[in-house]
Amino acid sequence: MEKKFYLTTPIYYVNDIPHLGHAYTTTATDIIARFERFLGKDVFFLTGTDEHGLKIQKAAEKKGLSPKELVDSLVPMFKELWKKLNISYDRFIRTTDSDHIKAVRHIFTKCYENGDIYLGEYEGWYCVPCETYYTEKDLIEGNLCPMCKRPVEKIKEESYFFRLSKYEDKLLELYEKNPDFIKPDFRKKEVTNFVKQGLKDLSISRTGFTWGIPVPLNENHVIYVWFDALTNYLTAVGYPENKEMTKNYWPADLHLVGKDILRFHTIYWPAFLMSAGLDVPKEVFAHGWWTVEGEKMSKSKGNVINPYELVEKFGVDRIRFFMFREVAFGMDGDFSYSKLVARINGELANDLGNLFNRTLSMIKKYKGEIIPQPSGEITEIDKEIEKRAVETFDAIKTLIPKAELTKALDKIWQFINFVNLYIDRTAPWNLNKEGKEELNRVLYNMVEALRFITIFTSPFMPESGSKMAEMLNLDNDELKHESFKTWGNLKSGKKLNEPKILFPRIEYNNGEVKIAKTKKG
Ligand code: ME8
Ligand code: MG
Repeated sequence: MEKKFYLTTPIYYVNDIPHLGHAYTTTATDIIARFERFLGKDVFFLTGTDEHGLKIQKAAEKKGLSPKELVDSLVPMFKELWKKLNISYDRFIRTTDSDHIKAVRHIFTKCYENGDIYLGEYEGWYCVPCETYYTEKDLIEGNLCPMCKRPVEKIKEESYFFRLSKYEDKLLELYEKNPDFIKPDFRKKEVTNFVKQGLKDLSISRTGFTWGIPVPLNENHVIYVWFDALTNYLTAVGYPENKEMTKNYWPADLHLVGKDILRFHTIYWPAFLMSAGLDVPKEVFAHGWWTVEGEKMSKSKGNVINPYELVEKFGVDRIRFFMFREVAFGMDGDFSYSKLVARINGELANDLGNLFNRTLSMIKKYKGEIIPQPSGEITEIDKEIEKRAVETFDAIKTLIPKAELTKALDKIWQFINFVNLYIDRTAPWNLNKEGKEELNRVLYNMVEALRFITIFTSPFMPESGSKMAEMLNLDNDELKHESFKTWGNLKSGKKLNEPKILFPRIEYNNGEVKIAKTKKG
């Protein structure tokens, strides 16, 4: 069996339809999953929905539905969006799934048996939209949540507590000994500083409402929604019954999350796992936050970007590409239509699309669509293109599994730009005019470069990747990852397929997308 790679998205709250932020994390995870599969790993890619808790219960009440009716009505929206975005998940988990409910009750019992859960009384503040407890001093002016800035509720009730305070030193040791546990590095510093300020025991059950998993020892309590939700990562790999599957996939290789929920994943989650005697995940990567035209996305502002509509308008690969090209993955970023159109026309239509176009039309014109056998003198720039292709592959092999998606795209575009430069420098049209033998080598190199580019861009843009492979008439051997370790594994003598325009230039006016009239030439 090949080495496994287990990666996850957050499970999203289903109190409303999905938006750009949800699409962002899930697409990032998909890119990594696809690349790891290409490398030959046994990938398990998990996504799903977080369906319990007061936030969902309240949203349901507002609509006059039961919580289960509400979530059942919204889950299909998530699934349809993932289909639209070509998300290749292996399981879609719902926290109302029966295996999940068992897993949560099991781990709760384990932590209890290990002496880390006790009964007490919680008195303090709670933010329902964030499903988070706060003390008085955490709040901002006017009793607002420091995260989402909405009013918090005061609660006082009997509650089970988890001995989080006991794990302070163990957590700090974990961060120190495993430098990849929290990524990017500046986030690791934030979490470390937070833990150093001291951890209080955490309330992990509620009695004020019923929409949750009952506490095993005391059915008057429902388990805190974050204790419930985090456990999804274990449920999906068979915990606790399928020991073989758990052993095979656990610990997770990568939890991808937004910065808003980093603390839950790097403080609570490893503490619960340590308490239950389980390994902690290898890496938690937190990405940044999208705003829209400079403003926070919010319903009241009416600026929430619907990713389904975005894909309908612009096409799936343009959106998948844009999200990771425009903003350094890990940092905050701003969405705007003008930036989207600029990236599409500049980098997809011009740099990449045009490169395919010019290469395929030259092969057609000079060689009747047949990939020539390379011949003639090898020049410096021929050596350079080889070296750069292999180096780019090596670079993205380390970057993509570490979720460094924008850095990977930077490398890929540097290579694309170099190939364009290679064509300008070698000027195949002159070689042809002068009847030079080197034309064969240059044309071969151009197509070989496109084969590398196909593989580089496929995880980001799977639909276009298939089109590229089809145009280049690549067979299975030519698509294997081993064939990218060295240059020159493209087979000569094969006929290319009909070229298609990959990324036409577009115009965006008054909310409408049109294919731009192409310039003559
Ligand atoms: O927190 N920019 O679910 P959630 C970037 N159920 N990413 C964004 C975003 C934005 N503006 N808005 C949301 C929960 N996200 C819990 C998770 S996991 C065990 C439980 C993304 O529906 C980002 O990944 O509020 C963020 O972490 C997640 O959606 C929060 O989704
Ligand atoms: Mg949220």
